[in-house]
Amino acid sequence: MTEAKERLEALTKHTYGVWRAQRGWQPLFIKDAEGVYMYDENDKRYLDFSSQLMCSNLGHKNKAIIEAIVKQAEKMSYIAPAFAQEATVNAVEALLTVIPAGLDKFFFSTSGSEANEAALKILRQYMAPNYKVISRYHSYHGTTAAGSSFTGDSRRWYAERARCTIEGVCFAPDVYCYRCPFSLNYPDCNIQCAEYVDYMIKEEGNVAAVLVEPVVGTNGRIVPPPEYLPRLRKICDENGVLLVADEVMSGWHRTGPVWAVQNWNVIPDILITAKGCTGAYTPVGLTVTTRKIADYFEEEIFVHGHTYSFHPLALSAIPPAVAEYKKLMATGLPQRVSKYLEKRLYELEDRHQCIGDARGIGHFWALEIVKNRKTKEPFNTKADKFRKVLMTDRIAAEAMKLGLYVAPWYDTLVIAPPLVITEEQIDEGIEKLDKALEIADREAVHTDTPGTRSAEAFNKAGKI
Ligand SMILES: Cc1ncc(COP(=O)(O)O)c(C=O)c1O
Repeated sequence: MTEAKERLEALTKHTYGVWRAQRGWQPLFIKDAEGVYMYDENDKRYLDFSSQLMCSNLGHKNKAIIEAIVKQAEKMSYIAPAFAQEATVNAVEALLTVIPAGLDKFFFSTSGSEANEAALKILRQYMAPNYKVISRYHSYHGTTAAGSSFTGDSRRWYAERARCTIEGVCFAPDVYCYRCPFSLNYPDCNIQCAEYVDYMIKEEGNVAAVLVEPVVGTNGRIVPPPEYLPRLRKICDENGVLLVADEVMSGWHRTGPVWAVQNWNVIPDILITAKGCTGAYTPVGLTVTTRKIADYFEEEIFVHGHTYSFHPLALSAIPPAVAEYKKLMATGLPQRVSKYLEKRLYELEDRHQCIGDARGIGHFWALEIVKNRKTKEPFNTKADKFRKVLMTDRIAAEAMKLGLYVAPWYDTLVIAPPLVITEEQIDEGIEKLDKALEIADREAVHTDTPGTRSAEAFNKAGKI
């Protein structure tokens, strides 16, 4: 047995592979990563079109961030969260330069799931006796009890079977124009998906908060019509309910501005983020509240905390990451490349029958893969995820053979490259994707129906 094979066998024998049955788990061994590329044991190079899990926004081997982490490690790797320390002061100072006005009190954890967990306690204590949270089906909010319960995708079903969910979460219809749950067409729909939330709040009773990913992440890169989030903000205000924005994936310039909510000038009462917060160099989760909520906890006990809350090493990556984002955006590269990416993805949509909808914003795109463009019949459904090899898995596997990493979901491919990617690298990825998509084209029904370009329609109608 080769040494590499032995190491992999030891790894799969002694560790749990995530979100899968363990049999047959054969992860690819990655030995190095730099910029927008990663390298396997045979030095094969893979272009990263999904920023790993939509988190490595600044690419790999960023010197400024690495140096800051090393400096902090040498100085003080850990101190209990009850103590004050410089890494927190510096992180808060950097974050206040990018957090929307009005949001200014932070809780630091180490993941997006934990950030959602903290948000649940905060909102339920603040809104007591109201406790219900309205989320949406096309959503993911994490792997812990609160995150799983807020999640609309099939990961919640498994968490429910394991009895690891909480009560008091209900689901609103999705803002999903390609498959509108009301069978309506934008812009004649009166944004029924938002109006229905008003109906839900009034009918449900005891509602404390509405929780949304402002641009839906894993479950579709769904960009809402321009009226949607401002309307939701108003509905929340009129009903005395909090609006919580989970920007774990959509934050940190993935959609253009620092925060996706800024596309529509909406400010939530609680903002949740993680991932891009440090460019994924260290694990950080962040729950941010308004001053009004913060004031409530002047007398109320904040019944939350972890050993690793405010972890100095984790927090040390925040100030350099914030600075690197500012520097990068000032070059104009991400703004230019996102337009180019949009053009190239629309070209793919024109060429491939299997793409039902190419949609997105900034560096955050979905190719929705369908068997039949005319009927929108999918190759796979939500229930298929984790149960078998899906068409999107097959396309992603073919792309890997060609040296392109693209994350598959059950119905879409996640096109979310690092913000540092160049036009030439986009061309390299599109060329490989073009070839990989032929797998699905061969099994798709060929029709005269063009792709929808729904994002383009929104852009024309709105101000994005
Ligand atoms: C919107 C959103 N919220 C929460 C999470 C959970 O974050 P983590 O995996 O860091 O726990 C994710 C992860 O993908 C996410 O996309």
